[in-house]
Amino acid sequence: MKVLNFGSLNVDYVYQMDHILLPGETQACSSRNIFCGGKGLNQSIALAKAGAPVFHAGLIGNGGEILREELQKNGVDISLLKTVSVPCGHTVIQVDKDGQNSILLYGGSNRAISEDYVDEVMSHFEKGDYLVLQNEINEMPYIIDQAYKKGMVIVLNPSPYDENLSGCDLSKVSLFLINEVEGFQISGEKEPDRILGVMRQRYPEANVVLTLGGDGSCYMEGEKIYRQGIFPVTAVDTTAAGDTFTGYFISSAIEGKDPAECLRIAARASSISVTRPGAAGSIPLREEVLS
Ligand code: RIB
Repeated sequence: MKVLNFGSLNVDYVYQMDHILLPGETQACSSRNIFCGGKGLNQSIALAKAGAPVFHAGLIGNGGEILREELQKNGVDISLLKTVSVPCGHTVIQVDKDGQNSILLYGGSNRAISEDYVDEVMSHFEKGDYLVLQNEINEMPYIIDQAYKKGMVIVLNPSPYDENLSGCDLSKVSLFLINEVEGFQISGEKEPDRILGVMRQRYPEANVVLTLGGDGSCYMEGEKIYRQGIFPVTAVDTTAAGDTFTGYFISSAIEGKDPAECLRIAARASSISVTRPGAAGSIPLREEVLS
């Protein structure tokens, strides 16, 4: 069994601010750092650090070579990555004094994926392999359809949730990982059990992980709902906390751990990640999470 993460690769320009900018405001920042990121790259690194055999597919644009090195350094298989001659995907991230962030995303190379490239990538996978997706790349409907035809297990973190997902047949997804904002966007509901209720109605075949920030997380499998609280820490930067959770949850589930344990491990991993600055670099190693 192999894991394919078909996802974004971004260079994150991270600015430390007093507070997130208000409309029309100019504010000097106290520092700027350049980190490797992208929900796709972060989740691949979290999967690899958690112990899953993960291949990352996606496009690296001009100025993005550090992203390839970061994936390789962390044990992700990069043989399916491709380099293209367009600006690399990147972000401008403001982090405030409480560690909260706001992200401006430029898709760049992440949105230059072609059907031919998808076909080439998919030719390396078969029934029973996992496909992990977020929503920062183009050709999502085609990728989902091709993976489903092959009998792959499709896992979707629909983040950021936007109109690009409307062309996707989400009934083909086996596992959703959403936060409370995406839960509201999908279901129109704010209360966790109601969000899960709508997901159950709309996607009866799928299991759902719902993360709730400071209120922890829950996982719905069939009629059963598992719940997990947070591990309280002082946050310096919440960027990639969700990606860390996602990677650790999927990896634990693939290992056959029971759902309560999967949630607990994922919650521990993401609580460690928020105590560190940056995206990919903040993701803890398996030994740290389990110790
Ligand atoms: O989830 C965090 C990630 O979202 C950042 O690394 C940034 O690149 C954006 O894609």
